[in-house]
Amino acid sequence: PNAQLTDNFGRPITYLRLAVTDRCNLRCFYCMPEEGINYLPKKELLTYEEMERLISVTSELGIKKVRITGGEPFVRRDMITFLEQLSKIPLLDELHVTTNGVFTAAYIEQLKAINISSVNLSLDTLDPDRFLAITRRDEFNKVMRTFNLLLEAGIPLKLNMVVMDGKNIEDILPMAELTRDLPVSVRFIEEMPFNGTGTYKALKWDHARILSTLKETYPDISKMEDPKNSTASHYKIPGASGNIGIIAAYTRTFCGSCNRIRVTSQGVLKTCLYDRGALDIKSLLRSSTSDEALKAELIRAINSRHKDGWAAEASRKDKKNHESMSTIGG
Ligand code: GTP
Ligand code: 5AD
Ligand code: SF4
Repeated sequence: PNAQLTDNFGRPITYLRLAVTDRCNLRCFYCMPEEGINYLPKKELLTYEEMERLISVTSELGIKKVRITGGEPFVRRDMITFLEQLSKIPLLDELHVTTNGVFTAAYIEQLKAINISSVNLSLDTLDPDRFLAITRRDEFNKVMRTFNLLLEAGIPLKLNMVVMDGKNIEDILPMAELTRDLPVSVRFIEEMPFNGTGTYKALKWDHARILSTLKETYPDISKMEDPKNSTASHYKIPGASGNIGIIAAYTRTFCGSCNRIRVTSQGVLKTCLYDRGALDIKSLLRSSTSDEALKAELIRAINSRHKDGWAAEASRKDKKNHESMSTIGG
């Protein structure tokens, strides 16, 4: 009796990314300006009860996988209790979390206990000085501690590194080298235009350049088969324990098989990372809307998706998008 949610182009929608807060304890320059962004007042954020209802309802529509993002999820109080609640939703197959690792170390035993499907840890560099330059906060040691504890706990782990000219190019090879002995996926990500300032420099490191840099050092790197709907292209150094992923986040080679929708921390449905909002879910949750009516609205919004959300955004007249990744949730 499993429901199937498909969009107007026949793409199955099975994956929901939920941003639980727009706040963050780092200031990664590719995501936010130094002074931060105008954070939402608490009452504008979906409550845990509202989010739980939303996820439960979408699971009945066919959502199988949920990723909790932010901002930084663990800056929100009682986050771990919320994750424990979500892990009990019967129709959900997978629960993942993307975190910067600053506060995460304290919750690893509990993440293990709820059998979290995986953790994606943002780690742009292995050097404390470069970490400070990129995130504007001196938290490298806490993040590395989280990294080590996640490995020890045996939680499936992906490391996200946004590749940035002049900032962390010297980290590409050491990060790739981690996969030799550790069972991790190291993902190199193209930088996207969501730094909260509305300005964006031309991309210098696209997926092809990242791959050719890797191939200079690892000429016998092999292409792996990618999981269905993966945003990453996977490679392996022969004999390595882990693997390498390259995410063409900016040049977007994967829209054709996009199976994901997003809900921002203010409860807005986005049918694409670049979409500015397809449905005000918060208003529905805060009126007396029934589950059935909520489902109908979600289905309607998902059936007015763009084939390529980026192209739709690019053709808009009000060009400047000042959004921060911290509000959208990546
Ligand atoms: P899994 O495949 O579930 O591991 O998740 P993910 O890699 O999509 O999620 P994660 O939160 O780790 O994000 C990694 C990078 O991919 C971030 O920079 C995201 O913004 C980017 N990304 C995720 N989904 C999309 C998408 O639909 N479009 C684009 N252009 N980029 C995306
Ligand atoms: N471009 C690409 N990736 C980004 N992330 C945040 N901002 C950007 C950006 N401008 C990444 C973070 C995190 C993931 C959810 O999104 O590094 O790992
Ligand atoms: Fe925080 Fe993630 Fe944005 Fe960095 S990229 S400032 S860790 S939300």
